[in-house]
Amino acid sequence: DQNKFQAIISHCKEYGFVFQSSEIYDGLSAVYDYGQNGAQLKKNIRDYWWKSMTQMHENIVGIDAAIFMHPTTWKASGHVDNFSDPMIDNKDSKKRYRVDHLIEGHAETLSKEAGDALIEQMDNLLKDNDFAGLKKLIEDNKIKCSVSGTVNWTDVRQFNLMFSTQLGSVTDEASEIYLRPETAQGIFVNFLNVQKTGRMKIPFGIAQVGKAFRNEIVARQFIFRMREFEQMEMQFFIRPGTQKEWYAYWKEERLKWHLSLGTSPEKYRYHDHVKLAHYADAAVDIEFDFPIGFKEVEGIHSRTDFDLKSHQEYSKKKIQYFDTETNQNYIPYVIETSIGLDRMFLLTVCNAYAEEDLSKDGKEDSRVVMRFPAKLAPVQLAIFPLTKKDGLPELAKELMDKCKSSFYCFYEEKDAIGKRYRRQDAIGTPFCVTIDHQTKEDNTVTIRYRDSMEQERVPMDKVKEIVLNKINE
Ligand code: GAP
Repeated sequence: DQNKFQAIISHCKEYGFVFQSSEIYDGLSAVYDYGQNGAQLKKNIRDYWWKSMTQMHENIVGIDAAIFMHPTTWKASGHVDNFSDPMIDNKDSKKRYRVDHLIEGHAETLSKEAGDALIEQMDNLLKDNDFAGLKKLIEDNKIKCSVSGTVNWTDVRQFNLMFSTQLGSVTDEASEIYLRPETAQGIFVNFLNVQKTGRMKIPFGIAQVGKAFRNEIVARQFIFRMREFEQMEMQFFIRPGTQKEWYAYWKEERLKWHLSLGTSPEKYRYHDHVKLAHYADAAVDIEFDFPIGFKEVEGIHSRTDFDLKSHQEYSKKKIQYFDTETNQNYIPYVIETSIGLDRMFLLTVCNAYAEEDLSKDGKEDSRVVMRFPAKLAPVQLAIFPLTKKDGLPELAKELMDKCKSSFYCFYEEKDAIGKRYRRQDAIGTPFCVTIDHQTKEDNTVTIRYRDSMEQERVPMDKVKEIVLNKINE
């Protein structure tokens, strides 16, 4: 539903979740900034992942490797040679297209049989790197891409998706380095460092969160596909031959993590890969039912010993593990879980967004509410004195001081209470507390629940506990 998607994008902007990067200069394509509420929501998602991986698994530790890496890393990983997409330019419109997206988009307008046949033809040509054949396929099928008449195409070429830059000053021997296109390689090159200094025993994992960069050609759909984004990855090192079991384990474990946030299971599905990336012997996506359809949020990949073996070869340093149980030396196999933080953010926002009709007795009313899980909400408790006088702000500040070291609180004394509640609904605050004149008499406050909009009176000194219970659920 494109309309719902557009409404969510507008909401994200209006309430300080996501802005276009460099907006005053008309933005930068496929690059975004997180605003005051977005940055906090994103941090809460990151923290929840980090804690689930490291604190909750005794055999997983976290690292933080640099974005810049030695350029040979990307030779060894296969990214220099394989991390590219075939593109074609339309000379008239000066637009560039990914060949597979172009043909797939066109195939959707044909009958199922004709569309399937076209895709199969494309797959075969892609497999053979037959670029002339791909160009002919596009032309023979009169794929026009919104330009009328005959379309003037360039040849099909491979474009590497990595960004490159120069390390060192110009007078130095400048060397070309890349911005990492995945965080995983920072883990692989540190395998021995962590294993030895942490005395880690296989099976064990290394987790990392950080920025990754890809010069995506088709960069649409808001923060779904970005050129600068964040990944949360974990490489789990195992004994060769046990990859099937561990792959099955992580496939299930990761879906459980998603469901632990209260999302309905019907919103998720697995998508097993038929075409595998250059490093994998099995791969599955966890897909979510976004307003724009079921799409990938996370990948689980059985990466064999591809990466460690290749780094051993290129670095000429032995990267092996001595297994004291089997008395054997080997290069460990790896199961990887890789989720995009920005995509998980988009999922969280799409899943939370609701437009509600609250009309009653002929009086029209509505609200937009973000039903975030309490532990992820950017503000967890809003505290409102009913009026600005009679000592109510002082009592409210007292509650703020008591709570703010434990979770995120927000204080506001302007506007009618109803308006203040609606503003908190729009950013997904699960609890609002109002301090009124009765508070001065019996120390009770009104707590208002975001989802049911119900209100009840509770002792002021119970508020912190109520919120904490819900956050830690
Ligand atoms: N280390 C394996 C790897 O990078 P991937 O399938 O290319 O695998 C993993 O990426 C995840 O990273 C994806 O499932 C997605 O959530 C996220 N991701 C990849 N490219 C992205 C982009 N251009 N914008 C936002 N997120 C992206």
